[in-house]
Amino acid sequence: MFKIAVLVSGGGTNLQAIIDATQGGLLKDIKIVKVISNKEGAYALERAKDHGIDAECISPKSYENRAAYFDDMILKIKGSQADLVVLAGFLVVLSKEFVRAFEGRIINIHPSLIPSFCGDGFYGLKVHEEALKRGVKVTGATVHFVDEGTDTGPIIYQKAVEVLDGDTPEILQKRVMEQAEWIILPAAIRAIADGKVVSKAK
Ligand code: GRF
Repeated sequence: MFKIAVLVSGGGTNLQAIIDATQGGLLKDIKIVKVISNKEGAYALERAKDHGIDAECISPKSYENRAAYFDDMILKIKGSQADLVVLAGFLVVLSKEFVRAFEGRIINIHPSLIPSFCGDGFYGLKVHEEALKRGVKVTGATVHFVDEGTDTGPIIYQKAVEVLDGDTPEILQKRVMEQAEWIILPAAIRAIADGKVVSKAK
């Protein structure tokens, strides 16, 4: 069985889309073996626990430095035997060691059409604020393999979403989630599990 670990920081709607797909849907033969949040009290942890998934908070604040934090993350994820690490709104910048430990086996969802509105500082609502400021008429989401840069890894799937008159960052964020993120993230997991998409780094 193909196994995934999901890293989260917040509400976990992308995690929920994955959980839903594992329940008789697109990912019915795939198991979420671990969910890790860097934030205590993240609602994503509740969503995981509600479905009997092994979930815990591992906060960088509990460690002496980032290296020690990621060493422990590597150990815990390797211990879970996950085949793929899915970043679903995980807001901690990964260490090079972490990326190397799972080379070609980490994917991320980003709420824009990369290479627009991505890179350092572009996360959460900020991405949508900048898209609205620039006046783009189309935005969307991207799933990509993670390399040592920020949002620079090979693109797996993208889906475009229209920007409408009167959009606020919150309204646009919700539309991008509903029409793009929740669809292409499970689809990318499916494609990787089936061996239809492989990272060159693998
Ligand atoms: C999503 O927009 C995702 O693309 C990101 O942060 C948000 C996380 O939302 N980078 P959720 O925790 O999955 O609801």
